[in-house]
Amino acid sequence: MSMAGGFWIALLVGFVGSLLGIIVNHFLPLFLKFGLVPKGTFGWPVLGETLSFLKPHPSNSTGTFLQHHCSRYGKVFKSHLFFSPTVVSCDQELNYFILQNEDKLFQCSYPKPIHGILGKISMLVAVGDTHKRLRNVALSLVTTTKSNPQFLNDIERTAIDILDSWKHKHQVTFCEEARKFTFNVIVKQVLGLTPDEPETAKILEDFLTFMRGLISIPLYIPGTPYARAVKARTRIFSTVKAIIEERRRNGGKSNKSSSDFLEILLCVDTLSEDEKVSFALDSLLGGYETTSLLMSMLVHFLAQSPTALQQLKVEHQNIRNLKKKDEFLNLDDYKKMDFTQNVINEALRYGNVVKFVHRKALKDIKFKGYLIPSGWKVLPVFSAVHLDPSLHASAFEFHPWRWESQDQTCKKFTPFGGGSRCCPGSELAKVEVAFFLHHLVQNFRWSIEDGDQPIAYPYVEFQRGLTLKVDHCSK
Ligand code: HEM
Repeated sequence: MSMAGGFWIALLVGFVGSLLGIIVNHFLPLFLKFGLVPKGTFGWPVLGETLSFLKPHPSNSTGTFLQHHCSRYGKVFKSHLFFSPTVVSCDQELNYFILQNEDKLFQCSYPKPIHGILGKISMLVAVGDTHKRLRNVALSLVTTTKSNPQFLNDIERTAIDILDSWKHKHQVTFCEEARKFTFNVIVKQVLGLTPDEPETAKILEDFLTFMRGLISIPLYIPGTPYARAVKARTRIFSTVKAIIEERRRNGGKSNKSSSDFLEILLCVDTLSEDEKVSFALDSLLGGYETTSLLMSMLVHFLAQSPTALQQLKVEHQNIRNLKKKDEFLNLDDYKKMDFTQNVINEALRYGNVVKFVHRKALKDIKFKGYLIPSGWKVLPVFSAVHLDPSLHASAFEFHPWRWESQDQTCKKFTPFGGGSRCCPGSELAKVEVAFFLHHLVQNFRWSIEDGDQPIAYPYVEFQRGLTLKVDHCSK
């Protein structure tokens, strides 16, 4: 072999060697790492699979996207959603792991436009220490109000007022009635306002604009629902701020006899003035749509389950029989509502008020042999676990009796989320619904005629507002 030939072979060997070196040192770990990322596909450029993921379906079904992806790739799969590489989890263990590791391995991460509407200091989007501070206040407020009998009386009186207005009607749009109820309850609890006060109507109007924007395309162009929502939030913020300032001038006391969140909130020294206003707004927002939707689902499912409705009626009649006429319900009565709790749990499982929550991975995370790369979006899908036939027998049936033998604090039931972001209003929501049902089942018969059903858009809505034919039955 000539000298020149040897040189070229040595060069080639050197080149191949370096190439191998680069592959082994650089690409192999990457390849191995991404080899562990769950199976799946990123779909189209930019939008990925977002549109198929968001395709509406009945909220008591998993929808074709999840059905297809889970059967093809398994309960945990990768995708590209909301402009980010994403791991979607329909696995109860992984969902639980994600919720329990908030701020350590995962973090709440709602899409940017939501921040635009809610504001940076909203508890729903805040993270780390700010979130902890806001949350501590929320928890202490819930504890204080729960032990206040006035709080229960206000809820019941609001339910009676709504139902009294039905007495001479044959038909009601239930979703509107339920929203009226939950709005009046929460506005009373948080700001001490009654439905006939001018501020209540003003807040409600802005709130409806605000809610429409929350579910709209996020274009900040004057006149779009999104831009109107951002403005509506600023107006609600000013209204609430004015109420707080007025209250401060009155030495913290409300003009009325009853107490409310604000009275307690004003004494909290761990929150700034703007954080207090934002906190009041979060409570209104968190407690309004979700609870009214749960009520609509209950009315819808009970209309199709006469046996459950009958058992519910008997439970409430028995409670009422032990009380004086027109006597208010108290905490002991609430504790006797066992079947009501089963019915509520079942509506939460079967109806799925909240389909999934948004998180992101803070570091590379290995779980059950999968790798979730740092920075990826992570979506724990609660509805998929609630409707998983391997976890819930007859999962696609409304069967409240399953809760007689099933623990509602288990990993396979997370309607209120879990871990350090678990819903602080869950108990309030349940009391509201139970008290409303108490008066509804004893005073009215109802039927649904237009086949309306809860649809996950993925926020859940009854397309026609759930029209009920109602019949007042005098006891
Ligand atoms: C049926 C009724 C309700 C359902 C299904 C529900 C569901 C949820 C869920 C799933 C979360 C967790 C969100 C996440 O992890 O990102 C949450 C958080 C929250 N909910 Fe509820 N909720 C309901 C009622 C209420 C009520 C009545 C209030 C207020 C009075 C409320 C206030 C909040 C707040 C402030 C948060 C944020 C908590 C945090 O980030 O630490 N919710 N809710």
